[in-house]
Amino acid sequence: MRISVIGCGYLGAVHAAGMASLGHDVVGIDVDAAKVERLKAGHAPFYEPGFEDLLREQLASGRLRFSTDPSAAHGALVHFVAVGTPQRDESGAADLTAVRAAVAALAPRLRPGDLVVGKSTVPVGTARELLDRLRVVAPGASLAWNPEFLREGFAVGDTLTPDRLVLGVRGGTPEETAIGQRDAALLDEVYATILATGTPRLVMDLETAELVKTAANAFLATKISFINAMSELCEATGADVTRLADAIGHDARIGRRFLGAGLGFGGGCLPKDIRAFRARAEDLGVGEALGFLGEVDAINLRRRTHVVDLAEQLTGGLVGRRVAVLGLAFKPSSDDVRDSPALAVVAELTARGAIVRGYDPEAGANALRVLPELDLAATAFDAARDAEVVIVATEWAEFRDLDPAASGLRELVANPSVIDARNCLDRDAWTAAGWNVVALGRGSHR
Ligand code: UGA
Repeated sequence: MRISVIGCGYLGAVHAAGMASLGHDVVGIDVDAAKVERLKAGHAPFYEPGFEDLLREQLASGRLRFSTDPSAAHGALVHFVAVGTPQRDESGAADLTAVRAAVAALAPRLRPGDLVVGKSTVPVGTARELLDRLRVVAPGASLAWNPEFLREGFAVGDTLTPDRLVLGVRGGTPEETAIGQRDAALLDEVYATILATGTPRLVMDLETAELVKTAANAFLATKISFINAMSELCEATGADVTRLADAIGHDARIGRRFLGAGLGFGGGCLPKDIRAFRARAEDLGVGEALGFLGEVDAINLRRRTHVVDLAEQLTGGLVGRRVAVLGLAFKPSSDDVRDSPALAVVAELTARGAIVRGYDPEAGANALRVLPELDLAATAFDAARDAEVVIVATEWAEFRDLDPAASGLRELVANPSVIDARNCLDRDAWTAAGWNVVALGRGSHR
């Protein structure tokens, strides 16, 4: 099938290559010429394990190409819209400029029977608005919503072996239902290989499909903030949040995943999505229903200040003190620093007068773009030299696997003090090697 993918960021580029690997003839379109050139040359514009191999393989197969020209979408039957929906302003509302522009650019290229498929995370009601627009500018074309749940660091696997496929289609009147059924059947064809493996497929109306995505991210954010709230209780009482998470996680109704207490969530999705969700609920007159997400956000942001407060306590005042921050990406296996808790910690430490050196296996260059004054080290050891406190802010395997006894790190630092802001270190091993270990939410050393 001929497919176009509008927007070649994280979501779109991986989706385009993924669809080509399913055997479709795919064109990825983006307004950013530099990004398109990189993709054409087989270079990933971001760090994502497995993506570059897939990209090169699919370019070589001849089924995948990239263009800056919107008319390259002409002739495709299914058009995925995978552009960004960043936070608009302090209100937290989503900025839909790129989504609206993508659909406007597509409209003159659409033929009757073509299907536009939204993948971007949008406020509920957006699909309906776009469909109403299409009825005027491209009659005969249709629209469905097929949210994406991929995680950075696992993007290829999540695209090709998703937990579920959610198809939001038109319905209501018999005529609309018939169109919706046809649209769902077309998406079944697109995903035939994935569906053949037994992947659950859930068909629903457009609004529910939009809500599934924002509800899922809100739930994940709530789970993280819940365990971080417990972390505050643990610190006040000497209890251990990691043991608490293990124990409550054994209850299958709760589950252990996403109960990783620490520096909290960041990235291009969870923080902005919960704010946009709240803003949308306010617009809809049901703001109270999502009031708790304000608390989820506040708990999350408190983690960042808390880590800096801990560093201040450990050093007895941050002015002129050397601090090493290991990890700058918002999470491991990613070079993404959007709303990175680690970078927020660097910025706050610096604001309080500390001399900070940072290191990240992949995100250094991106971190410098956000914080140009950052003193970026080439290795973890470089960052730690003469440090009075070391903060592990992103749980890269490289840090988790450091042997505190054999690595020689202790000899490099001015003071063997480490804040494990992601609960990823073997506290006993580090303590045995002579380090003072402060792990978030793990008050007790018993
Ligand atoms: C998230 C969702 O997990 C995806 O399902 C969704 O598709 C995506 O947003 C999106 O909307 O596009 P992602 O932002 O890649 O994916 O990252 P996550 O793995 O969800 O991690 C988010 C943040 O939560 C990271 O900063 C991570 O360090 C933090 N986290 C995660 C914790 O603090 N504790 C945990 O237990 C898990």
